[in-house]
Amino acid sequence: EKGGYPHFMLKEIYEEPQTLRNAITGRIKSKLPHFRELEKMGEDLTKIKGITVLACGTSYHAGLVFQRFVQDYAGIRAEIDVASEFRYRNLPLGEGDVVIAISQSGETADTLEGIRKARQSGAKVVSLTNVVGSTISRESDAVIYINAGPEIGVAATKTYVAQLAVLLLLGASLALNKRNPEVISQLVNEIEGLPTVFESVLASADEQCQRLAREYYQFRHFMYIGRGYSYPSALEGALKLKEISYIHASGYQAGELKHGPIALLDRDFPVFAIIPEDELKAKMLSNIMETRARDAKVVAICSESDREVSRAVNSRIEVPKVSAPLYPLVMSPYLQLFAYHVAVARGYDPDRPRNLAKSVTVE
Ligand code: F6R
Repeated sequence: EKGGYPHFMLKEIYEEPQTLRNAITGRIKSKLPHFRELEKMGEDLTKIKGITVLACGTSYHAGLVFQRFVQDYAGIRAEIDVASEFRYRNLPLGEGDVVIAISQSGETADTLEGIRKARQSGAKVVSLTNVVGSTISRESDAVIYINAGPEIGVAATKTYVAQLAVLLLLGASLALNKRNPEVISQLVNEIEGLPTVFESVLASADEQCQRLAREYYQFRHFMYIGRGYSYPSALEGALKLKEISYIHASGYQAGELKHGPIALLDRDFPVFAIIPEDELKAKMLSNIMETRARDAKVVAICSESDREVSRAVNSRIEVPKVSAPLYPLVMSPYLQLFAYHVAVARGYDPDRPRNLAKSVTVE
């Protein structure tokens, strides 16, 4: 049932091109994003005052990308909180507020309670889930399915990719009455091209990540850094590594290093820098220099043929060039495969990490 792969996690990473196709299918009409599921919300969506995103773990990281995107691109004020905090915080919500709840399983207890609280306050809840008929899907005002198919590996991989693709389309659809349709259809076109981009990425990523994993699997600590759209990737890369390889890893906004975390770094504490070709690259390069000055080894994921980055780091992986909000997508398979190969090199079963469950129905 693993289709010839040694683990479900690897199989599911290799399914990502098809997952993306399924996530996108039916969501584009006349070259523009279209969500049939949201038609019934009509007025509520054209009069949004603000968006609040609610999620846990990897779904929260997808939410961070969406929060930034919906603000940048659709000009809608957006907040985000992990569900376990949102529930116990008094965020004023009411008519005109839309809550986007993201939960792959549709059963996460904190997210569900967050939804109940949001609806009581008068906000409308749109949930994004992979499981038809799940509790969260039944308790929301509208449901968007990510159509990723069953995911057996405990660590979220293809569902994260599907969440990101659907969330970008959703963000783009919320920009429809604010932006030039030409600009939106260009972005949509790029999103439609992602399955092909992923196919070419997966043709070489596994070998590159395995090589890197062999170099780094014995370290006890790892720091992931990024800025802008790459900050969620730093968090997600660190989460994948810690949950399946049990190596201590944390993600930081690169600009925050000098406010404390840089004190940790030395030759035994490598840094994983997410540094695509975007407007923040120069700042990231200077952060990388700061870490090199502490003798920390730096692995970078950068855009292809980036000489500046390759001169500044110890090892690197190159990803295809895409528009800034799409980088969290193309970075994902590399972060997942690196964590996978480190876990395997350390002798662990990545499909069944200790202490973790696929759906977290306890609070
Ligand atoms: C990490 C992972 C978890 C889940 C989190 C939320 O790989 O899978 O962090 O993302 O438990 O789960 P859902 O999305 O089902 O609400």
